[in-house]
Amino acid sequence: MKIYLDGQYYDKEDAKISVFDHGLLYGDGVFEGIRFYHGRVFRLSEHIERLYNSAKAICLKIPAEKSAMIEAVLETIRQNELQDGYVRLVVTRGSGDLGLNPALCLRPTVLIIASKITLYPEEMYRNGLEVVTCATRRIAHGALSPMVKSLNYLNNVLAKIEAQQAGAGEGLMLNEQGFVAECTGDNVFIVKAGKIFTPPISSGALAGITRQVAFEMAAEFGIPLSEPEMTRYDIYTADECFLTGTAAEVIPVVRLDSRVIGNGSPGPITRRLIERFHQLTETTGTAIY
Ligand SMILES: Cc1ncc(COP(=O)(O)O)c(C=O)c1O
Repeated sequence: MKIYLDGQYYDKEDAKISVFDHGLLYGDGVFEGIRFYHGRVFRLSEHIERLYNSAKAICLKIPAEKSAMIEAVLETIRQNELQDGYVRLVVTRGSGDLGLNPALCLRPTVLIIASKITLYPEEMYRNGLEVVTCATRRIAHGALSPMVKSLNYLNNVLAKIEAQQAGAGEGLMLNEQGFVAECTGDNVFIVKAGKIFTPPISSGALAGITRQVAFEMAAEFGIPLSEPEMTRYDIYTADECFLTGTAAEVIPVVRLDSRVIGNGSPGPITRRLIERFHQLTETTGTAIY
């Protein structure tokens, strides 16, 4: 495996960063998870755009133009001779001293890993996931904007632990007001009376790239989609529920907190979206080779 680190490619064993890197010491940095399918990177420019916006929001100046970053992602995949897989693109504040002071971090660290991905088991797409609500609330905008895809994922990790302890496939996170925000690593949607709903970004959701693809697919199918504040009641009483995310793609949810959603199996709109999503990943994206 070849890993990109600050402009050079290294073998996995030799790709090392400083123990003084503030990405490690403070979770001070931003990242993207990106998928590529059949030799094409899916929604690459959207991911790069979000990375630069996340960096801007935390006063981190990425030491490369967007076009150079796109090329670095493509070249990392080429170096690994992959057709299908997952890219992790990370930019940290860089190496500083033990104090918090970001001004002492002279140069951001940029690393890119291109690898195979472990998927959710196939039967979860066929039968749907069980989700539980986590006691851990989604971090408030006033503390750290959930819009920033930062290296500080402890909030989500704690919620994920709760979901795992409950034996669920994903954990639903509410905001401080008790409205639905998102899952630990996915956005959440419901279908009710032929319409699609998802919480607004202001409720504490990441502006997911796959979420945006779901909006586009809904528009293409002529299915109305809106973003009202949502409570767990809305999900309990929905006809269908699904999650979106780069790793999970579009995945059905059939149970929340032991309430069966709809008739307990993936609904027709969810199945249609999954099928269309696969078509998009097969036929669109930035060519790697
Ligand atoms: C907290 C959180 N919400 C939502 C998502 C889904 O976003 P995307 O579709 O861009 O992968 C992710 C994954 O990146 C995430 O980490």
